[in-house]
Amino acid sequence: MPRANGKKKPAAKKLNLMGERSIGRVLITGASSGIGAELAREFAKHGHHLVLVARSEDKLMALAGELNAAHDTECSVVAADLSLPDGPKAVVTALHDAGIEVDILVNNAGIIDVGPFVDTDTEKFQQLVALNVGAVTTLTSYLLPHMLERRFGRILNVASLAGFQPIPSMAVYAASKAYVLSFTESLSEELRGTGVRVTALCPGMTDTNMVTEIKAQSETAQWAPSFLISDPKEVAAEAYKATMSGQTILVPGIPNQLAAAWAQVSPRWVVRTVTGFWARQADWMKTKN
Ligand SMILES: NC(=O)c1ccc[n+]([C@@H]2O[C@H](COP(=O)([O-])OP(=O)(O)OC[C@H]3O[C@@H](n4cnc5c(N)ncnc54)[C@H](OP(=O)(O)O)[C@@H]3O)[C@@H](O)[C@H]2O)c1
Repeated sequence: MPRANGKKKPAAKKLNLMGERSIGRVLITGASSGIGAELAREFAKHGHHLVLVARSEDKLMALAGELNAAHDTECSVVAADLSLPDGPKAVVTALHDAGIEVDILVNNAGIIDVGPFVDTDTEKFQQLVALNVGAVTTLTSYLLPHMLERRFGRILNVASLAGFQPIPSMAVYAASKAYVLSFTESLSEELRGTGVRVTALCPGMTDTNMVTEIKAQSETAQWAPSFLISDPKEVAAEAYKATMSGQTILVPGIPNQLAAAWAQVSPRWVVRTVTGFWARQADWMKTKN
């Protein structure tokens, strides 16, 4: 059962955003590690109050303690499994019960699956789609109306460089991130002029548990040169600026920007042939995790 256990305070601190609006709470999913934890640190550094969401309550509590101590900010924690059918709703109910309103939503929680499609359990795909696609859509749907009422809001959806092209050996993951990218771009246009802006963050390989786990199982992944692996702190800092300024798509890092541009200007058959050739060289196409 998820729960909110933020410290009780009589009134939310008013901060100025771009000279006009007070800053509300920022809800960050997948805040217990990696890019999500760095995004939490970045938002806290800028004085935002936070709601941290993931399954690992102990890690969220430790991060909330760190941020409450280091910054003049309030962090609440909601432990929830967002891949469960009622996960996103349980989070929104916990917020409602605690009287917390969210002005900035960061849909960051996500999982990956690498290897031949046929070798993966159906349940793993169900979980991946429920989290990477379902929870992003559902939380946005629940929280957007309040932002529209206030005529202010920001939504940061963590997509991926993988969203720009099909990737054989990561078929479902890449498709889930293509969804997030397309969803973000559509909403960004739908919401023009409303005061709510939507941003897709599309990182390339970033030094988090996700990459550590892939490297532990694959020699191919270990060959990735270090200049291709981004620092999650730097990704979070860029993402913060893009979110607050209302930029629609952010691809951090020049090598990743070149890769995204190549995928967008090349014919689709060329892109899938190249990614297919690359995937067939990888050891994860031969041995499944
Ligand atoms: N690292 C990369 O190279 C890379 C590149 C492009 C995009 N991304 C995207 O960046 C996002 C963050 O990933 P990361 O690299 O920071 O990996 P990470 O360190 O593994 O973080 C994943 C986060 O998602 C949470 N999570 C996983 N399953 C969940 C569930 N069922 N319900 C709620 N929370 C759940 C995890 O917390 P709990 O386990 O505590 O629930 C954790 O906080 C993902 O969307 C990923 O696709 C990563």
